[in-house]
Amino acid sequence: MASTLPISQSHGGVGHHKPLVSLRPRSPIFHSWALPRPHLAPDGLSLRSPSPFVVLAARTAEMPRKKRSSSSSEKGFVEEMRAVAMKLHTRDQAKEGEKEPDAPPVAKWEPSLQGYLRFLVDSKLVYDTLETIVRKASCPWYAEFRNTGLERSEKLAKDLEWFKEQGHVIPEPSSPGISYAHYLEELSEKDPQAFICHFYNVYFAHTAGGRMIGKKVAEKILNNMELEFYKWDSDLSQLLQNVRDKLNQVASSWSREERKHCLKETEKSFKYSGEILRLILS
Ligand code: HEM
Repeated sequence: MASTLPISQSHGGVGHHKPLVSLRPRSPIFHSWALPRPHLAPDGLSLRSPSPFVVLAARTAEMPRKKRSSSSSEKGFVEEMRAVAMKLHTRDQAKEGEKEPDAPPVAKWEPSLQGYLRFLVDSKLVYDTLETIVRKASCPWYAEFRNTGLERSEKLAKDLEWFKEQGHVIPEPSSPGISYAHYLEELSEKDPQAFICHFYNVYFAHTAGGRMIGKKVAEKILNNMELEFYKWDSDLSQLLQNVRDKLNQVASSWSREERKHCLKETEKSFKYSGEILRLILS
């Protein structure tokens, strides 16, 4: 059954918690790399037996969002990642946004089909990369994020196949997608906390603003046709909640410094994804 939840109802749902193996890095990894910035704007691990972290994460994840304490030490880490991300939106993108708009609002976008195809191709490269990284799981945490139901690679493959059947030429991936994919591969090996930040932002952004954008583009150039990219095979709010629970659990074994390091990566996630979004207007 495809999820038909309206965008506003797909967030903050409460699901049940599945126990996870508690994993903790043997040593924190902090790399401050000189990164190739996009032109407009990315060990050792040991298994531990279940610990109080798991119990705390489970309790936090099971609490309905509204009843959670406002003390940041008791909040799930996903709420902290979300809060940082929301502030990086512009005021016209989301109510909680704090940035001044630097581009026309989505409602005024004039997308081209060629630009949208470029966006879909680069998005597919990013999802292929994320999904390969969690399949290989060079860091044991990543294995928790296999088969979440949020995967987009196959859906995008179907959409691109459909466009091809309609006679459209499918472009090769372009530089925003290629540089983001390289960055993610590098991060996944060297900086798992930062990688998790991108994982969260890419999948969750797509279910919020990404869907809004997809709807607007479909109205303007696709005769309202809904692509597979915007459909999930089961209840989206439940899928999101399952992933929130796992993210909270993984992060519950991190030090305060590691959490801060993860949150700080949000800005890069916005820069890389923003570059790919801009392809729609190219
Ligand atoms: C034109 C661009 C964008 C628009 C219009 C947009 C819009 C939105 C909206 C309306 C929400 C829902 C707010 C709510 O729950 O009340 C949202 C959530 C979010 N956005 Fe964006 N956004 C955009 C770009 C981005 C980018 C580039 C990222 C990062 C890669 C991002 C990350 C997120 C995250 C993490 C959430 C929270 C999702 C959740 O609560 O599950 N957004 N966005």
